[in-house]
Amino acid sequence: MHTPTPLNVIILAAGQGTRMRSHLPKVLHPLGGQPLLAHVLERAQRLHPAQIIVVHGHGAEAVRAYFADGPGPDHTQSNGVVQWVLQAEQRGTAHAVAQAMPLIRDGERVVVLYGDVPLVSPESLSLLVEELQRHALVLQSMHLAQPGGYGRIVRDAQGRPCRIVEDKDASPEERAITEVNTGFMAARSEALRDWLARIDCANAQGEYYLTDCLALAVADQANPAALVATHSEQFLGVNDRLQLAQLERIYQHQQAARLMRAGVSLRDPARLDIRGQVLAGQDVCIDVNVVLEGTVRLGDGVVIGPGCVIKDSELEPGVEIRAHSVIEGAHIGAHSIIGPFARLRPGTTTAAQVHIGNFVEVKNTLLGEGSKANHLSYLGDAEIGSAVNIGAGTITCNYDGAFKHRTVIQDGAFIGSGTQLIAPVCIGTQATIGAGSTITRDAPDHSLSLSRTRQHSYPNWQRPKKPSA
Ligand code: UD1
Ligand code: MG
Repeated sequence: MHTPTPLNVIILAAGQGTRMRSHLPKVLHPLGGQPLLAHVLERAQRLHPAQIIVVHGHGAEAVRAYFADGPGPDHTQSNGVVQWVLQAEQRGTAHAVAQAMPLIRDGERVVVLYGDVPLVSPESLSLLVEELQRHALVLQSMHLAQPGGYGRIVRDAQGRPCRIVEDKDASPEERAITEVNTGFMAARSEALRDWLARIDCANAQGEYYLTDCLALAVADQANPAALVATHSEQFLGVNDRLQLAQLERIYQHQQAARLMRAGVSLRDPARLDIRGQVLAGQDVCIDVNVVLEGTVRLGDGVVIGPGCVIKDSELEPGVEIRAHSVIEGAHIGAHSIIGPFARLRPGTTTAAQVHIGNFVEVKNTLLGEGSKANHLSYLGDAEIGSAVNIGAGTITCNYDGAFKHRTVIQDGAFIGSGTQLIAPVCIGTQATIGAGSTITRDAPDHSLSLSRTRQHSYPNWQRPKKPSA
């Protein structure tokens, strides 16, 4: 059996990204809610490399700080395998790779990726690496109808790749070549080290070009290869905000396609944005203009109405979220109905068949089975039992200006409309609170509590009138 030699991934991420016109380093700009570099790191991890070496330079501190807790999008993966190498001055792609080479031994494999090319498929990367069994150097190329700006692959009469000419160094004939260098390549480490030492900067940009490896490999009769990509979209890079927006659409289309294949109905796949990880059951239906962020779990049959934003939440089977609800850090029990226009903040947990209606805000609150708060309420730091009815305009007054206090409402309680519950306070089982009450003390089980003032009616009351002209 062939034992694979160790694989090293080098990610080039030192460039400035001038055309982004941004204070944020280019590789930290988000795609699907995660920095470009996080996407590249995630794809690199899937190759199970011995190490990933990120060559960084511009905005080095910000980049390292972002990934200080690990390279994964959710910061959970260990970063033991990721090494950070500083390229203080950006003198070209060959110079960048050379900074990483001291960390790599001879007799190993190297694959070079770019930190600003985030959509490459793991399958393509595997194919590229596999070719190292037959070649000392493998380049990834693609055909582009408009190849301007890219390095062109020059092939000999037999169709073998023989050199790469950069756009700025190319003759008009060479500029007409549509096969371009994606920049991704794989090489055997000892050969790469040797070529890097021989590359100079005698070119239009005065830079050390990694692409010169190809001509050197040909001179060494090292039998280099260029793999032509069948799906070139995945090798598109980000140089400016227009390209970033184009890649965002491609990425979102891929996410939408993945969900639909898993059994989710999307009213319009072009009007869903996923900025994180969505795990969906079957027969989930998502209406237009929905944003899903962080980790979102959707049980079978969940229905999400138009215009909802849902972040880091779990919706159990059969939950219905009605239009324009904003939900974060919530766990919604099966067959509950939320919204329209509901706002669930972190720490909201409901049992099954709970109803939370329009203009209800819930924070750090537990709602038991079948409980309802259908209109215009604030429920914060509360523990609400099952079958509780919260009338319109109920407010848990949880904050005294310094501390937060809890409100407990036990099973079967009925809170009349317009009630203020001054926490800490407990409403007992089956207790009733008359509408318009301000409740400052605990209400016993099965009692009626009222705190509103008595009504007086003055007969034949004349309203003030403006004197007539
Ligand atoms: C490079 C290739 C070109 C290819 C194109 C694909 C070379 C000489 N040219 O050109 O053939 O068609 O990519 O997009 O390699 N970087 C560093 N340090 C440096 C220079 C660059 O880390 O000193 C990084 C950049 O951050 C970027 C990547 O390397 O992620 C590519 O650099 P860039 O300047 O964009 O190269 P191109 O001119 O586009
Ligand atoms: Mg570029």
